Amino acid sequence: MSFDFKHVLVTGAAGFIGFHLSLKLLKQGYTVSGLDNMTPYYDVNLKKARLNQLTAFENFSFHPVDLVDRPRLDALFSGQPIEVVVNLAAQAGVRYSLTNPHAYVDSNLIGFVNLLESCRHHQVRHLVFASSSSVYGANTHMPFSVHHNVDHPVSLYAATKKANELMAHTYSHLYNLKCTGLRFFTVYGPWGRPDMALFLFTRAILADEPIQVFNHGKMKRDFTYIDDIVEGVCRIMKTLPKPSPHWSGDHPDPGTSYAPYRIYNIGNNQPVELNEFIRVIETCLGKTAKKIMMDMQPGDVPATYADIDDLIRDVGFRPETPLTVGINRFLEWYRSYYGI
Ligand SMILES: NC(=O)c1ccc[n+]([C@@H]2O[C@H](COP(=O)([O-])OP(=O)(O)OC[C@H]3O[C@@H](n4cnc5c(N)ncnc54)[C@H](O)[C@@H]3O)[C@@H](O)[C@H]2O)c1
Repeated sequence: MSFDFKHVLVTGAAGFIGFHLSLKLLKQGYTVSGLDNMTPYYDVNLKKARLNQLTAFENFSFHPVDLVDRPRLDALFSGQPIEVVVNLAAQAGVRYSLTNPHAYVDSNLIGFVNLLESCRHHQVRHLVFASSSSVYGANTHMPFSVHHNVDHPVSLYAATKKANELMAHTYSHLYNLKCTGLRFFTVYGPWGRPDMALFLFTRAILADEPIQVFNHGKMKRDFTYIDDIVEGVCRIMKTLPKPSPHWSGDHPDPGTSYAPYRIYNIGNNQPVELNEFIRVIETCLGKTAKKIMMDMQPGDVPATYADIDDLIRDVGFRPETPLTVGINRFLEWYRSYYGI
């Protein structure tokens, strides 16, 4: 069911994906309220630089609010007629969750309940929220499908993302809140995250420093270009989830429901080995990396690979950007942003 709306709240608007989504919505004429607490998990100047691009639009307003701060969050909702919420604010990162578990509980669990409550009390028409490919955890059946059971997460980060899906389902069931969860698969591109492989490798290779190659480069990731993620999110925002008439409690399908609730994968549907990913970066940079081969890190999974049949069927879209094109666009941005 497609529907019209004008006013969107993007949480995590100063973050990598939230920035790109906000920019696209602003260019299309939507009114965007951007929320972010500017957490210093990585370089806050990068977040400020992203925000500077957004504040140039008169249909954008920025709200420096923490999702954990219930009164301020509720005041934000009371102050404007928000129709659609896209929740991209979260404590991201798998490895960080081994040493900083409470950051995930605060932003991803407490913050998410607060957001659900605000959506419920302010008649939000559609809540779209970021989940992650990491919810597939110990699953090995590929490609990963939203119809598979995902009850074996291997990091606290993944567990909080799975918890978000469960919490959203209860609000969909209890209050008819229309909720769509999106499992993103390793997103990369311009303005990307400094804690992720492409950024770390590029910085190190240009500085003649060694890179750490986990699982001896044998890991596979379904690297997905940012524009493809944003296009998928935009199409999903306009598609209200419908109760599935075929859903049965005798054989519960994890990806659908009798309630207005859906889960989708957004991934490239084409996993690439880390060694190959590094080779592409080296070719694009014209420089060889100094590699330190490492074992797999606790919390990591050996491979990710998205089944995107539901996404293609319901919104008519599949990610298509080739890795070399995406990496070159990132490098072009990186060189210009850092003046290299
Ligand atoms: N980038 C990826 O590869 C990827 C993959 C799977 C899932 N995701 C998910 O997508 C979403 C966006 O990821 P991203 O890569 O843009 O991350 P990001 O860290 O760049 O953006 C998240 C933003 O949320 C803000 N934030 C964190 N906690 C907050 C809180 N309590 N209140 C308000 N703002 C808060 C941060 O300041 C940050 O700017 C996250 O939920 C992440 O877990 C990302």
